[in-house]
Amino acid sequence: MNFDALNWDILDRLRATFLEGKPARRAYWTSEEDLAQYDVTFGERIGWKWDAVLHELQQLGWTPPSGVERVIDWGCGSGVAGRRVLAACSSLRVLEVHDHSRLAVSYAVRMAQGAFPGVAVRPASPAPEGGKDALWVLSHVCNELDSRAEARLLAALSSAGAILWVEPGTHEVGRRMQSIREGLRAHFDVIAPCPHQRECPLLLEGRGRDWCHHFARPPAHVFTDGNWVRFARRAGIDLRGLPYSYLVLQARPGGARPAPVQPWSRILGRIRLSKSAAQYQACGPHGVEDVQVRKQSNPEAFARLSRNDSVGREGIAKQMLEQAEE
Ligand SMILES: C[S@@+](CC[C@H](N)C(=O)[O-])C[C@H]1O[C@@H](n2cnc3c(N)ncnc32)[C@H](O)[C@@H]1O
Repeated sequence: MNFDALNWDILDRLRATFLEGKPARRAYWTSEEDLAQYDVTFGERIGWKWDAVLHELQQLGWTPPSGVERVIDWGCGSGVAGRRVLAACSSLRVLEVHDHSRLAVSYAVRMAQGAFPGVAVRPASPAPEGGKDALWVLSHVCNELDSRAEARLLAALSSAGAILWVEPGTHEVGRRMQSIREGLRAHFDVIAPCPHQRECPLLLEGRGRDWCHHFARPPAHVFTDGNWVRFARRAGIDLRGLPYSYLVLQARPGGARPAPVQPWSRILGRIRLSKSAAQYQACGPHGVEDVQVRKQSNPEAFARLSRNDSVGREGIAKQMLEQAEE
């Protein structure tokens, strides 16, 4: 499938379903064609968020813990997340895909088998269990889970070896991810996005308007690719910034101390730029702080912060910028 064969009846229907953002009463994939259309469009956009997260993990030097060779892509859809993770982590040997849509499972299996002949790809069991040998991959499933489904999922996840979870960067979903982190952090080290293992400071009183979110950028060629530009216009999508929330967790052996606090701060959301200053919210060892970097007093940090436009802030180097408080 490619952009020459986009079917807008399918894409409009899928987009309307996603925008509704509610637990689906039944599986909405009606044909393989739905999945193929999704995979090259909305799915690929999600893939760019995964690229940002996986790139960051590479920068952090994180790889799946030893003994973790099996991926469970839960709520796989067309399977884009599982494939991105396999491409980034060469130690993984098995991919199990799970979805309440059988069409999705068979599509995701076929696509991954084609792309990774050296990996054993198979459907997961109907109710996959955690498993210390398993790396769970979850992508854009939050909106579709009611509270019972979420509770069942979190119970299964509590005994996983590691978890990579990427979601939209909306206020609602971002805060839900903060709460999910809270429920899991007793048994897991938070590898990213947090530089600390404490309670999420955005859950403290007075912080309800804020949420943990970030922006990924599509690959550069997308901005000059007529197909993507037309797709974005028709779908009403802003290609420049892809807001996302995410969590990377690794099981902490019983009795082990939580991972140490990192010596850097994470920039949250957008950087607000004016001619004379850059302002942003940063989460670091001392909690969440509002930071202002003045061009006059700290020209180097200001230049780094303004290198991209206010939407496109990319790269762990910048995210790790030490707070340049005045
Ligand atoms: C928005 S799609 C995301 C698909 C894929 N993970 C991605 O990021 O491209 C959500 C997927 O979750 C699946 N899903 C929703 N609720 C589910 C449930 N309770 N159990 C299993 N799969 C579910 C849907 O069938 C759909 O494939």
